[in-house]
Amino acid sequence: MNPSPVIDLRSDTVTRPTAGMRAAMAAAELGDDVYGDDPTVNRLQAVAAERFGYEAALWFPTGTQSNLAGLMSHCQRGDEYLVGQDAHTYKWEQGGAAVLGSIQPQPISNQPDGSIALPALAAALKPDDVHFARTRLLALENTIGGKVLPPAYVVDATRWAKAHGLATHLDGARLYNAIVKLGVSEAEAVAGFDSCSVCLSKGLGAPAGTVLLGDKAFVAQAKRWRKALGGGLRQAGLLAAAGLYALDHHVQRLAEDHANAARLGEGLAALGFKVDPVQTNLVFFEIPATDLAPLKLLLATRNILATLGPKTRFATHLDLSTEQVDIVIDTFRRYLEVKQHAAKGLPGLGVGGAPGAIPDSATAGFPPGLPPGLPPELLDALNGAAR
Ligand SMILES: Cc1ncc(COP(=O)(O)O)c(C=O)c1O
Repeated sequence: MNPSPVIDLRSDTVTRPTAGMRAAMAAAELGDDVYGDDPTVNRLQAVAAERFGYEAALWFPTGTQSNLAGLMSHCQRGDEYLVGQDAHTYKWEQGGAAVLGSIQPQPISNQPDGSIALPALAAALKPDDVHFARTRLLALENTIGGKVLPPAYVVDATRWAKAHGLATHLDGARLYNAIVKLGVSEAEAVAGFDSCSVCLSKGLGAPAGTVLLGDKAFVAQAKRWRKALGGGLRQAGLLAAAGLYALDHHVQRLAEDHANAARLGEGLAALGFKVDPVQTNLVFFEIPATDLAPLKLLLATRNILATLGPKTRFATHLDLSTEQVDIVIDTFRRYLEVKQHAAKGLPGLGVGGAPGAIPDSATAGFPPGLPPGLPPELLDALNGAAR
C-alpha cells in the first residue's frame, strides 16, 4: 500500500512508484534498447513471454502504442478487425487503427457482460468479395469496463475466430485483474489468443510500460512498427525495471483493490446510488444530474479527485487505502444529509438553528469549517440540487 493524502479515484493509472520500485529503477542495468542491448528490458521481455507462454515479448511505453502496433502487425492496409463498440482500441484511442494503420474497424455492440455475441460476430464477418474489406482479426478486451470476460466465452470466441481464419488479439490492459479474480495462471488467461497486450502501469503500479506478446514473427513485425510509431526508447530499462518489480510484487495485491472496490460499491449502494455489480477494481454508478455540481465541490473539500458524470467510474488502486474508501463513502453520506436539510430550508439554506439547519454531524470535517459558512458556490449548487 502506497497511500497518498489525495484520494484519487479517477483511474488506476495515477499511482506513483513505491520506494521499492524506485530502488529497483535506480539500480537497473541499462543499454540502448533500439539496438536491443538493454539487459533490463530484455529480462522483462523474457520473463513476460515465459509467464504468458508466448515465444516473444516486446516492451512499449504505452498500451495505446502496443495495441496499435499489434493491430498493424496482424492487419494490412484495407483489412478489417472485429471489435467491441466499447473497446479501448476502438473508442478510446482516437481510432488510431484507422487513422494511423489504415485498418477498418468493424465495431459490434458489447453485451452487458462485456462479450460480443457470436451470432453478431458471424453477421459482421465479410465474405471474400471485392466489395468488402478483408476481415482479418478479432480483438477482445479483458477486463472490459471492470468486468471479467466469462472464460467459457473466451474459449468459444477464439475457437470461432480460428475456424473462420481470423487472428486473435487481446487488449489485456487489466488482464492481471482478471487473472487474480479468476485465480488462473497467465497462460490460462491468454489461451486462444495469438497476441496480447498487458499493461504494467495500471493496477500493477509501474510509471509506464506495456508488454506485447506473440510469436517471434509477430513480435519482429511489431518491433518495426514500434520504431515507426516513435516508441523506440533508448535506456528504457529504467522503466522496464519498474515493470519487473511490479510483476514480482504487485500482482497478488490486486485482490486488495478488488476488495476496496466492492466495499465502495456496497457503501454507495447502501446510500441509494444505483451501482453496477463490481467485479474487479472499477466501480460504475449513477449520479443524478442535479447532484453532480454540489458533489464535485464537496468532494474537493476533502481532497477527493474524481471525474463525475451521469455514469461515474471510480477506480481503486495501489495508492488508495481502505480508510480512504471509507472517507469517500462518508462524504457521499454527508452530502445526502446536507442536501436533505437544504431541501427543508429552501429557498435559503437554514444555517445555525433556522428551519432546515444543517446539523454539525453532516458537515463536520469539511474544511473550510461547515457550518456556518458553507462556501457560496456550494450553497448555490445545493439549492439547485434540492429544487
Ligand atoms: C482497456 C485499456 N486498453 C488500453 C489502454 C491504453 O493504455 P495507455 O494509457 O498506456 O496508452 C487503456 C488505458 O486506460 C485501457 O484502459
